Amino acid sequence: MRLGVNIDHIATLREARKTFEPDPVKGALIAIQAGADQITLHLREDRRHIQDEDLFRLKCELKDTNVPINLEMAPTLEMKNIALEALPNTVTLVPEKRQEITTEGGLDVVSLKDYLKDYIKELKEAGIKVSLFIDPDLEQVDASLEVGADAIEIHTGEYANSYGKNTEKEIQRIRETAIYAKEKGLKVYAGHGLNYENVVNIAKIKEIEELNIGHSIIANAIFLGLYEAVRKMKEIITKARG
Ligand code: PXP
Repeated sequence: MRLGVNIDHIATLREARKTFEPDPVKGALIAIQAGADQITLHLREDRRHIQDEDLFRLKCELKDTNVPINLEMAPTLEMKNIALEALPNTVTLVPEKRQEITTEGGLDVVSLKDYLKDYIKELKEAGIKVSLFIDPDLEQVDASLEVGADAIEIHTGEYANSYGKNTEKEIQRIRETAIYAKEKGLKVYAGHGLNYENVVNIAKIKEIEELNIGHSIIANAIFLGLYEAVRKMKEIITKARG
């Protein structure tokens, strides 16, 4: 199982002072040394953490490695143009609302089908793989297939929020969605709200081949250091996978 480390919140800390440190690109290099298989970053429309320059610097720093870049972004024209210039390995399309603290739900692929078909086609023609961040919902899987996505990333936020209360019900939804999507030929990833404890159930679902994790790793990095925070997550995932 691959671990994508999301470096956004290194940039959140930097932007709190609008200064140069901590540098998310430096964080990416440490995360890779500690076992990250991918670097994930979300260029938000309001640029509250990652800046355009971070993306291009990251691309430059990783060019001699085989570590892929996963760019999360809203499906807007502005973001498409940036992706076509930066050429990350993967684009993950996410819904975005300005007032939200973090991504609150999956992309409604069903109602955006016509728009997304052309949007995704352009990205794929440029050699970028396209993943759609969706809620664990079979209808959204069908729509993702129809619009030509390569992969889905299952939103685990509800699961994370319900952890310890409704865990089994939420895990069942995620498992069913993962099995269904894999059978249909999509690659299956997952993420949002995962931490050292709740990641275990998700890592056991064998249809899911990649996790993208940010907040909890960066939060733990304050106490453990970034290298150890990433290494520990990778170890827990690997152990859970068996
Ligand atoms: N995957 C996607 C698509 C996201 O939007 C985010 C948050 O930026 C994450 C994973 C990581 O979520 P968290 O920071 O809660 O680990």
